[in-house]
Amino acid sequence: MPDLPALRASIEAHRSKLADECAAVRTPSDLEELRNRYLGRKRGFVMLLFEEMKTLDPAEKPAAGQLLNEWKRDVQENLAAVEAGLLTPVQAGPREDPTLPGERRPFGAAHPLRIFQREIESIFMEMGFGIEDGPEIETDYYNFEALNFPPNHPARDDWDTLYINDNLLLRTHTSPVQIRVMEKRKPPIRIIIPGKVYRRETPDPTHAAMFFQVEGLVVDRNVTFAHLKGTLEHFLRRLFGDKLKVRFRPSFFPFTEPSAEVDIECLACGQKDPACRVCGGTGWKEILGSGMVDPQVFKNVNIDPEQYSGWAFGLGIDRVAMFAYGIPDIRYFYDNDLRFNRQFHLK
Ligand code: PHE
Repeated sequence: MPDLPALRASIEAHRSKLADECAAVRTPSDLEELRNRYLGRKRGFVMLLFEEMKTLDPAEKPAAGQLLNEWKRDVQENLAAVEAGLLTPVQAGPREDPTLPGERRPFGAAHPLRIFQREIESIFMEMGFGIEDGPEIETDYYNFEALNFPPNHPARDDWDTLYINDNLLLRTHTSPVQIRVMEKRKPPIRIIIPGKVYRRETPDPTHAAMFFQVEGLVVDRNVTFAHLKGTLEHFLRRLFGDKLKVRFRPSFFPFTEPSAEVDIECLACGQKDPACRVCGGTGWKEILGSGMVDPQVFKNVNIDPEQYSGWAFGLGIDRVAMFAYGIPDIRYFYDNDLRFNRQFHLK
């Protein structure tokens, strides 16, 4: 005949097993099985103990009843906790499989035009130039008039312009930033201005309606054409190699006088192929426009041309990058085809 201490011992024995058994539950049917084993109406441990209680001495029954009720609640709470732990991950979706390989994120890479822009910037920064920028939506005044293009002057026809209204336009070159900088700042000035420019072009392998330029501007006392020549030659040789052949050709821009276009030797054919597709058999590739700042431009920004002189240049980044990398079509830069973009890497 069991007594109260025996009942208590039996509860304690089950209690320590229950903890282990709860921890071993993996599936809803494990849980069901465990619930039956403890709380099953006929053969559950808890129910069996309630049966045993009936045989106890009547004086011990109230204490035994309390003990068994506490134990039953304890079992119910434990099983409820296991059930909650089991349901949460199932409801949240499939469990993670930690043995699966991770997802690999592709490394980004700088766009080839950006790589070139940085290269150009770093060469000019070595020479003490600063970097400036300006708005892509410009007024007629900055894009043309202050640069010495009078209204209706035929020189404007060289720049097929996208107008927003009579006064506003998308800048056709980075030169308007020369004016903005000289209005703000007195010489000495030594800057480059990389940025986007826009022209009314029908896209083809060598034309895009949007492309990139780098402008350069130097203003100080006693600045001469020799400085222009020396600086640009140094720049182009840093970019393309020490031995690069460079030539200056007289040209015309309304805002420089005298003006020169700068050609470099064709690196595609080594100036040897009369049928070369890159240079058209001329052996030379036009790379930039340049010249001494026109005195009228200085007057427009209140810099005294008797005291100061300067030079400027403008270069198409796309064109230089195409030449350097052997890219046959300017539109590749803007197609966003990763198979193209991924071929270029920062040094
Ligand atoms: N802005 C001119 C162009 O777009 C290039 C240039 C810049 C020429 C500065 C001379 C001086 O063609």
